[in-house]
Amino acid sequence: MSPAAPRVGQLLTDGRTVLSESTAIDHWRASIAREDAEDLLALALGVATDALDPKAIVPARVALRYLEFLQRRAAGEPVALIRGVVEFAGLTLAVRPGVFVPRGSSELLAQAAVAALRRRPVKVAVDVACGAAPVACAIADALPSAEVWGLDIDPAAVTLSRANARRNRLGNAHFRVSDLLTALPGRLRGEIGAFTMHPPYVARREVRTLPREIRGFEPRHTLTDGSSDGLGLVRDLVEEAPGWLRRGGVLLFEVAPYLSRPVQALMRRADLEVTVQADPGGITRVVGGRLRR
Ligand SMILES: C[S@@+](CC[C@H](N)C(=O)[O-])C[C@H]1O[C@@H](n2cnc3c(N)ncnc32)[C@H](O)[C@@H]1O
Repeated sequence: MSPAAPRVGQLLTDGRTVLSESTAIDHWRASIAREDAEDLLALALGVATDALDPKAIVPARVALRYLEFLQRRAAGEPVALIRGVVEFAGLTLAVRPGVFVPRGSSELLAQAAVAALRRRPVKVAVDVACGAAPVACAIADALPSAEVWGLDIDPAAVTLSRANARRNRLGNAHFRVSDLLTALPGRLRGEIGAFTMHPPYVARREVRTLPREIRGFEPRHTLTDGSSDGLGLVRDLVEEAPGWLRRGGVLLFEVAPYLSRPVQALMRRADLEVTVQADPGGITRVVGGRLRR
């Protein structure tokens, strides 16, 4: 690392080198090390990444903070956990160790639910396995007249969800600790317009193959439901959800592209009308099933 009072450009070059050598990081894109170094230096400086000026001198204490961030990141800690917040669908959400870090890809799931609910006079949505509540909060924010529920088996996730709803002044979002739908209020039976779920879909045996930045920083119950194909909770919800849906209501899952077909098959077997949504790259990420009218 460069001597005291180095320049931004030099720190970024050094940081990129440190991070690109880390085997704990999933280098799934060539630019990850550079982007993370920029994010961490901007965080240490307290500025936006596009305000980084390569020629600017960095005070020694800021450079030290950056160095500490780099070491944490090189050990696999996600940038989001170092920062303590993520931006999701225009909202700022707190993240914390022990609760799944929201991914930008889940915005598509929230959008699909919002589109399905928009046409309905009574809007009730339930996000199952809500984690830090990115999807529940995004739906509640986009549809202030909707009643939104977030459920998670992990009390730490529910505590964080409530804090995220409060932070974003979303009084229409409610949260409960719940194993799947066990704690959902009975009065909602037959009233729900959209269920969403981003399940822990990694097959039991695949968990050990995940990069350290995921395996070492996301709790196991947020990654896998312990089933051999990763679809244990999906199967349970496909069985339970139709009894809670209104006619024409939808059940939406965010899954990895390789699980799209098996999930579609489960929907068909439950006599649900299949819908799919692709991300901007054309890859199917959200598989839905609509209860026939
Ligand atoms: C992949 S994370 C998704 C979290 C959040 N929806 C998101 O997209 O950031 C899966 C979540 O499922 C929760 N979970 C696991 N088993 C569950 C169960 N039986 N009932 C409810 N939630 C469960 C975990 O606690 C974790 O928060």
